[in-house]
Amino acid sequence: MMMVVKSLTQLSNEKVGRVIMASVMEKLITPLASGPAEPPRNKVTIVGVGQVGMACAVSILLRELTDELALVDVVEDRLKGEMLDLQHGSLFLKTPKIVADKDYSVTANSRIVVVTAGVRQQEGESRLNLVQRNVNIFKHIIPQIVKYSPDCTLIVVSNPVDVLTYVTWKLSGLPKHRVIGSGTNLDSARFRHIMAEKLGIHSSSFNGYILGEHGDSSVPVWSGVNVAGVSLQKLNPDIGTDKDSENWKEVHKMVVDR
Ligand SMILES: NC(=O)c1ccc[n+]([C@@H]2O[C@H](COP(=O)([O-])OP(=O)(O)OC[C@H]3O[C@@H](n4cnc5c(N)ncnc54)[C@H](O)[C@@H]3O)[C@@H](O)[C@H]2O)c1
Repeated sequence: MMMVVKSLTQLSNEKVGRVIMASVMEKLITPLASGPAEPPRNKVTIVGVGQVGMACAVSILLRELTDELALVDVVEDRLKGEMLDLQHGSLFLKTPKIVADKDYSVTANSRIVVVTAGVRQQEGESRLNLVQRNVNIFKHIIPQIVKYSPDCTLIVVSNPVDVLTYVTWKLSGLPKHRVIGSGTNLDSARFRHIMAEKLGIHSSSFNGYILGEHGDSSVPVWSGVNVAGVSLQKLNPDIGTDKDSENWKEVHKMVVDR
């Protein structure tokens, strides 16, 4: 709703009786337009306020990517606590509205919905082992999201992420370009960090990718790894193979096991 703060002259011109009856807000602010508030333009919803969900929330808020952030989870006290923490930090943020509820109506008109809900793997457990439990959770979540935000783009993070991205596409009925999995983004970021650390340089100076499925079967592209365009495979033709005396292959294992 458009509004303006009243000037002191305006205030003094108002009849004393009305001023006494009016609330502080009525005295201070004049609405310029009536009717319902405009829907948000860049609303983001995060489903699942665990460790990953809250890391996403804080990153989105600090980068000022959204005009409204909605959080959803099944654990109500945690959900409320996380919402209050973010709201209380609003002095340091530029996102005007942060809301949360276990009811999906709170997510209405989202442009992006990030799904981080579900169980995560225990020590030594494969990501693929989570599939049935998380598919069951997604059967409840995805139709609710699409009901309230039929035009959204979905970003799936829960594991096993590639399987769940496919399941989400099927459950949602959305076109495939509007259902995106986080894929091997994290793997590549970890790879770049560990490789760069071993070389004594910053991650942004090391270039390389992990492709394929996020998890045990992912593939490091050793032929492409380079620093400032200098191919590491040219410097060590055995890099990443069993023959490599420097055992760079170990880095991929570290990426998968973390
Ligand atoms: N794709 C990646 O790169 C990547 C990286 C890390 C973690 N993950 C995956 O992300 C998921 C979340 O990890 P985490 O560490 O935040 O776990 P977490 O246990 O900290 O949080 C999961 C949250 O989901 C909520 N939840 C469970 N069922 C729900 C439902 N039906 N509706 C709404 N919320 C529900 C839980 O209450 C909890 O708050 C896991 O599946 C994990 O394996 C993916």
